Amino acid sequence: MKSSLTTELPGRLIAVEGLDGSGKSTQIYLLKRWLEMSGAKVFFTEWNSSVIVKKATSKGKKRQLLTPTTFSLIHCTDFADRYERQILPLLKAGYLVLCDRYIFTAFARDAVRGCARPWLHNLYGFARRPDITFFFNTPLQVALSRILSGRPQLKFHEAGMDLGLANDPYESFRLFQERIYREYLAMKDEFGFRVIDGSATIETQQAVVRDMVSQAIDLPRYRWKTVR
Ligand SMILES: Nc1ncnc2c1ncn2[C@@H]1O[C@H](COP(=O)(O)OP(=O)(O)O)[C@@H](O)[C@H]1O
Ligand SMILES: [Mg+2]
Repeated sequence: MKSSLTTELPGRLIAVEGLDGSGKSTQIYLLKRWLEMSGAKVFFTEWNSSVIVKKATSKGKKRQLLTPTTFSLIHCTDFADRYERQILPLLKAGYLVLCDRYIFTAFARDAVRGCARPWLHNLYGFARRPDITFFFNTPLQVALSRILSGRPQLKFHEAGMDLGLANDPYESFRLFQERIYREYLAMKDEFGFRVIDGSATIETQQAVVRDMVSQAIDLPRYRWKTVR
């Protein structure tokens, strides 16, 4: 049997990546609405916890029991569950699958936490590479100010406090995001990211995103067939 990694599947996979506050969710939401309005079969999924490991993840995080390796493995289990139960079946069923964060989020975060990059790439080797990966290249200061202007409560791991970079959560978040940004920049050529200027307006970005999707994917193929 041929592996599902190499066989052509009818669906197409589109991912958005970038820092917190870089504009990913805004753009993928607008893309989703536009595709749905055109009558396309669309499935949207986010980088969040599946029921299967939610308890283990929150327990491990709360008690700070996780090492970079176990932290990474738990997130990978989480992703694998979502991948095998949702993303892959929908790609097989011929959907346009839109992912708000994909494996590159794990590559960036876990590498910053000290996991070896080749180990991470191998760990996530079961996951298909997206047909299009948009990278929202928003300057660090812009992304930070979008997130931090409201002085949100940052969670311990969200602020990267486990890395011991700073005692102040906001300062820790800054340093953590800076390192993640560097990882994204280092990955962009290897993984063929489509780089979107994160300082452009929402409308300009969306026009570029739609244009690139239309160029790369034969969209009429993904419309629901009307039954006569
Ligand atoms: N191009 C843009 N210009 C100005 N503000 C933006 C832009 N894109 C998004 N925003 C705003 O920045 C904040 C973060 O955007 P969001 O799409 O949630 O980012 P992400 O999903 O990458 O964390 C939101 O308040 C959003 O309205
Ligand atoms: Mg978001």
